[in-house]
Amino acid sequence: MNTRGQASIRLILFAACGAVLAATLVACTDSASEPPPGKAVVETHGCAECHGTFGISINPRYPNLAGQKKDYLVNQLRSFRQADSGDPKFAEMARRYFGMMNAKAKNLSDETIDVLTTYYSSQSCSLTQRAKEPVAPKAAGTCVPCHGTDGISADSEIPNLAGQRREYIEIQLRAFRREGERGFGKNEDSGRFHPVMTPQAMKLQGTDIPELAEYYSHLSCK
Ligand code: HEC
Ligand code: HEC
Repeated sequence: MNTRGQASIRLILFAACGAVLAATLVACTDSASEPPPGKAVVETHGCAECHGTFGISINPRYPNLAGQKKDYLVNQLRSFRQADSGDPKFAEMARRYFGMMNAKAKNLSDETIDVLTTYYSSQSCSLTQRAKEPVAPKAAGTCVPCHGTDGISADSEIPNLAGQRREYIEIQLRAFRREGERGFGKNEDSGRFHPVMTPQAMKLQGTDIPELAEYYSHLSCK
């Protein structure tokens, strides 16, 4: 990280320590045992209101962020930040937009994104839904090369699916499909396009989407 990045993280840490002075006085003044700044930062930015202080979301339509791949999370926040920027290249790139997240991401600096995603990706994920023996639907075979046999991906730009919210997974698969079918561009208030994932979602048929969402949401996250 460059010097500017380190300086602004220190600044955020300083501000965060001021805000929760009573609770963290000792930790904030003792640099040897400085706590990671992330927890205060996700609270200051209001992320915790929807994604939880520890990355377990408060609503089944909002994603869990705990234990998710860091580079993947960074890419998502950059996409949301870009959404309302009027960039003419928007239609050609991997993109994502969703009113409330665009607004949240709009003013985040790269340094703050780094703090937020480092914090959430390092939280331990706990399963909110669990079936005894989740049985893989046939369509899951095509997901394995990228998202892993157990829904834990090996690539830091590809998200884990294990333990993610069922409703949320379903909404995302439908969003990838919808934009693939309607063509590029910012079509509605929310949407998602990715050159690798969109074609995958377009191959799905019949009850594949609800079955896949059910299956992955019941796999154990790590
Ligand atoms: C008012 C609720 C709300 C707040 C506040 C909020 N988010 Fe979100 N966030 C959402 C929703 C809803 C989605 C899913 C959007 C979609 O369907 O595309 C989302 C998606 C995301 C994603 C993509 C995750 C994935 O698995 O693809 C990231 C990363 C994220 N939010 C981070 C943040 C951060 C960091 C903050 C604070 C700066 C924040 N969010 C504040 C509701 C919220
Ligand atoms: C060739 C690789 C590849 C295959 C195969 C693939 N995916 Fe993906 N998937 C990706 C990538 C890359 C992303 C991240 C897209 C982005 O950054 O927006 C992704 C994102 C997703 C997301 C969004 C997760 C989130 O947190 O928002 C879901 C859900 C998903 N994939 C489900 C599936 C399912 C189900 C299958 C099998 C039917 C599948 N994918 C097959 C590469 C793949």
